[in-house]
Amino acid sequence: MIRSIVFASNNKGKVKETKAVLQSESVKVLTLSDLGLVLVPDETGTTFEENATIKATEVAALLKENGHSDFMVIADDSGIEIDAMGKKPGVDSANFLGTETPFVIRNAKILEMLEHTEERTARFVSVIACALPCGETILTRATIEGVISHEQKGENGFGYDPIFFLPELGKMMAELSDNEKNKISHRGKSLEKMVEALRKKGLLS
Ligand code: IMP
Repeated sequence: MIRSIVFASNNKGKVKETKAVLQSESVKVLTLSDLGLVLVPDETGTTFEENATIKATEVAALLKENGHSDFMVIADDSGIEIDAMGKKPGVDSANFLGTETPFVIRNAKILEMLEHTEERTARFVSVIACALPCGETILTRATIEGVISHEQKGENGFGYDPIFFLPELGKMMAELSDNEKNKISHRGKSLEKMVEALRKKGLLS
């Protein structure tokens, strides 16, 4: 049975959400920095699946080199697909307008680009890759549909949450509490699917 999972991410928002979703499982979630290691994998893939696999397998290899060959590694590759922008920024969501540009500016740019369009449908996508100690990699994917708003609203979450409106809840993603977001979000659902897959393999209780 696995007792510790390494979550391969430097994104504070993702780490917080992942730890919260997995807290009820009988595993401890660690990050590379908890182990005194650093790695920023080159996301050279063209799909969420490819990039999630790169992150999980590169981190698993680094752990092996450092004598931690028994860890299971999970990685999330995620992003927002905006239909009026041809599903962009998609896999490039982290780099849209540059990684150093504050999200308030990136979100303002998207609202400006969509100013004259009625087509506002969008979705968040999350693919979780899990690199198992045996060398196998498992993938899960989940999405959440929403609508790009006309203004930024809400203080919670991170990234594109302040422009992502959830019609069924009548709220922005950034207006949900951590708990509410994790229950419905792309990442929450994708992680739940991964927990289920690992249970089926007998790797989680
Ligand atoms: P990556 O998976 O490291 O390539 O980065 C994913 C990027 O997508 C993040 O940096 C955010 O910009 C965006 N993103 C992913 N998930 C969320 C979310 O739950 N809310 C808001 N933005 C997100």
